[in-house]
Amino acid sequence: MAQTTTTTETTVAHLALQPTKYRTSHVPNHDFVPPKDFKFTANMVEVPLNPLGSTEIPRATFGNYGKENYKYHEYLPYHTLTSEAPLTPYDHVDVAARADPDKKALFSVMGERKDMTPNIGTEVRGVQLSLLTDQQKDELALYVAERGLVVFRDQDFVETGPQWLRDYGSYFGRLHVHQWAVHPKDCPELTVVFRDNDTGNFFDNALKGSLNTVKWHSDMSFERNPPGTTFLSSLDGPECGGDTLYMNCMTAYDRLSPTMQRICENLQAVHSVARQARTASKTNINRREPIDTVHPVVRKHPVTGRKALWVNAEFTTEIVGLRKEESDALLTMLFDHMHKGLDFQTRVRWENGTVVVYDNRMVQHSVTMDYPIGDGTRRHLVRVTPQGEVPSI
Ligand SMILES: [Fe+2]
Repeated sequence: MAQTTTTTETTVAHLALQPTKYRTSHVPNHDFVPPKDFKFTANMVEVPLNPLGSTEIPRATFGNYGKENYKYHEYLPYHTLTSEAPLTPYDHVDVAARADPDKKALFSVMGERKDMTPNIGTEVRGVQLSLLTDQQKDELALYVAERGLVVFRDQDFVETGPQWLRDYGSYFGRLHVHQWAVHPKDCPELTVVFRDNDTGNFFDNALKGSLNTVKWHSDMSFERNPPGTTFLSSLDGPECGGDTLYMNCMTAYDRLSPTMQRICENLQAVHSVARQARTASKTNINRREPIDTVHPVVRKHPVTGRKALWVNAEFTTEIVGLRKEESDALLTMLFDHMHKGLDFQTRVRWENGTVVVYDNRMVQHSVTMDYPIGDGTRRHLVRVTPQGEVPSI
């Protein structure tokens, strides 16, 4: 076996020396009937599979992050080395369906509330998410679906520890366990974003050779049940930089001509994680087989009924039933439209204690990796990611 060093010195590079190979599989949408001549084209790559048994290891080395040195020691990143079966289908019932449309219970405890732009995002101060009642949480889910994202400042959200955060998130749906992302020890239902002097992170490999660091995407759109109401919390970050960009895909859909809306509403597309899994295998461990899934190009929110464009440049690889040139041209047009739409985008500047709640079904996002590593800078966030319904229109 390739693992030869102590846990604190173990790196994934060591583990990846003797990978098992396997091919990706695909997961058809339950109501997707492929045309006769349709073949998945993204499932022909091979990626290394975790070669070890069931255990956890720390992400690379972080000797300076002892309990006494670092307040958020409990959220340091770990890999799980267990190989797992594909996620099972999940019948999601959105908590927003129970919400008062006027959201009176939630608004009654909110302090200052300010829209970030007319089309997307609201920033809130003066309320603690941790203290919301179930009724207020239902209204929060609805509010987030309407605004795309809501930014909460000065939160104590992460102070009680990973297990509490996991339980809080599970109120909104079955929690997604990522196939290669790192997580707090003993808590694979949370995802940790961690980049510092020693480790860099997955994105450093993913971005090699790119002119910029912007990668618009919806989280895990390749899953059969992609995430819905999602919570991303800042633990620590650079003085300046590392902002997250968000885009309203409801507005992106609304802007299309009625003719193009009708065309898109009648199309489906393949979402694949094969390429990212191959890149991730250089630094992380793939615990599940990468999959391809077919989703509608436009999806409808289960509660608000708003339609959103549901294709993204990171995971959507082809439109089903079109010739390659046709598919490429249509996706290029849609991505170009969405990426240029600064008037339906916004930017979150993180502060310690900031929690962004976003509806992953209705928005896309991208990190901006504009801050240097190597000068003591550390960016550390934690995400709890409830799954949503199977996309439909
Ligand atoms: Fe993301």
